[in-house]
Amino acid sequence: MQVVSPTPGVLVAVRDVDSLRRRIQSWRREGLSVALVPTMGALHKGHLTLMAHAQKLADRVVATIFVNPKQFGPNEDFAAYPRREHDDFEMLNAAGVHLLFAPDVGAMYPQGFATSVRVAGLSDILDGEHRAGHFDGVATVVTKLLLQALPDIALFGEKDYQQLAIIRRLTSDLNIPVDIIGAPTVREADGLAMSSRNAYLTAEERAAAPALHRAITAAAKSIAGGADIAGALAKAREELLKAGFKNVDYVEARHAQTLQRLNPGEPGRVLVAAQLGRARLIDNIAI
Ligand code: PAJ
Repeated sequence: MQVVSPTPGVLVAVRDVDSLRRRIQSWRREGLSVALVPTMGALHKGHLTLMAHAQKLADRVVATIFVNPKQFGPNEDFAAYPRREHDDFEMLNAAGVHLLFAPDVGAMYPQGFATSVRVAGLSDILDGEHRAGHFDGVATVVTKLLLQALPDIALFGEKDYQQLAIIRRLTSDLNIPVDIIGAPTVREADGLAMSSRNAYLTAEERAAAPALHRAITAAAKSIAGGADIAGALAKAREELLKAGFKNVDYVEARHAQTLQRLNPGEPGRVLVAAQLGRARLIDNIAI
């Protein structure tokens, strides 16, 4: 792998698959390795940390921005989802990302589009129980992005832990020749996981939001210390409701790889999803 230091200010944006492929193929002919970092934009430090990580692992970094309609339910926030393409471009440019692929909906899903990628089992639990069809939308768009770019590696955040597990599964099941790299969650100073959806929080809700991280951290610690799992999770749920969260969709301790039931001695993960005002927040932490 050739080492090329990033040069801020060289970002090129393309909107169609042919241009994306042409640029990536020309890098390949030069023997350069390529990393892909898919996003839905409204970029924050969590996304930029993925870009920085990608720069260390590959010669060229391709970011994608696409607010994917297929992963939003009919009553979800597709229309309201923050779109800040100009700021995003500037941030990626300053970060030294080489190529931005920002297709419109028609380019990704042209008239007649009829294929869906579905990862059974993993997509039906936790968030999948509360967001019907969400992970099929994610799996479909990520499969397309991987096949469009054919990168050497693709990076995803542990912030969306179940999503990462589903993407690992589908690339393995479909023999897509890419290494999936998971990167740790980037947090605000008070522990709140960075998220484009944090923009929905009022000042008061923002002050209450770190309770999410506090509650799962405490639960993970007590479970690691041998406490009763159900008791630790019930306490976390109670703390969230006390802090002002309205619905706790789930707070669960699961096997870190399979996301199935956690047995004593296995690597575990506490995962949570809860509503705070307009924002549905998710988080997870290792046990
Ligand atoms: P989005 O929410 O924009 O996130 C893009 C990538 O950034 C994902 O891999 C996500 O896990 C990661 N990320 C978000 N917040 C993070 C944080 N605080 N720390 C570390 N990584 C973080 O996830 C999606 O978009 C979409 O589902 C996508 C994979 C692009 C498919 O549409």
